[in-house]
Amino acid sequence: MKVELAKSAGFCFGVNRAMELVEKQIALGKSEPIYTYGPLIHNEEVVASLEKKGVHVCESNAEDKCPIVNENGGRGTMILRSHGVSANTEKHLKNLGFDIVDATCPFVKRIHKTVNEESKAGKHIIIVGNAKHPEVEGIIGWCNEPPFVIENIDEADRIPYAKDEKVCIVSQTTFNSKKFKEIVDYITKKGYDINVVNTICNATEERQQAAGELAEAADCMIVIGGTHSSNSRKLYEICAQRCENTHFIQTLDDLHLELPKSVRLVGITAGASTPNNIIEEVQNYVRNEF
Ligand code: F3S
Repeated sequence: MKVELAKSAGFCFGVNRAMELVEKQIALGKSEPIYTYGPLIHNEEVVASLEKKGVHVCESNAEDKCPIVNENGGRGTMILRSHGVSANTEKHLKNLGFDIVDATCPFVKRIHKTVNEESKAGKHIIIVGNAKHPEVEGIIGWCNEPPFVIENIDEADRIPYAKDEKVCIVSQTTFNSKKFKEIVDYITKKGYDINVVNTICNATEERQQAAGELAEAADCMIVIGGTHSSNSRKLYEICAQRCENTHFIQTLDDLHLELPKSVRLVGITAGASTPNNIIEEVQNYVRNEF
């Protein structure tokens, strides 16, 4: 029997990188506190285990309450998570006396740079995404003038710019690419002078595609992820449609497998906030027990 992990599973590149940066800070063993600006990922166990290692979550707007810890007015290290923050927030945190470690995903950083340059060059910015998502809030804060944020086609009729003005369109990294294209096509037909920078990140799509391909070939699929995580549920749906014997678990404790002798391939995939050690634990268990 073979056990195979989907080609793309668990943390994406940006979250992996952020986790590594946090681990590096821990390894430095400084006496001053380490904070992340908001929870690093949507996984309570990971956040709790970081807390045990001395990495505290500082909720946004609570940064002023972090104590000053040295004679220079410093408050310790603040790690910016992969979603990124606005230019003003970064400045504010520096002014408060935090040493900043920027774990903003490079793909998000690229959007900051684009909207900053394009808006400085006089273009209006349209961001396709959810205005309340922290990533979009951060992007808004890199624009030279307030951008227009749009989540669906209906909102395109409220674009406040004249047709002959120059407009640059970017997107939230996790926005659905089909919906993005529909919105861009609609705006284009309205006759705006636009340049489109497709800033959608493929991590989610790649993870889903890899899960589907593996489930197609597998006799049994294991999907690891939080029960409240929508991307993990989606992975489960995709796998269950292709492989009848699909299990959805949070940790190894939830796994009660009985595999008939005829099973040749067990596939494993994991949602975006599942840490690598849990994936490895499940893999090793299935490899060793059956
Ligand atoms: Fe992850 Fe960065 Fe994409 S955080 S989802 S790799 S934009």
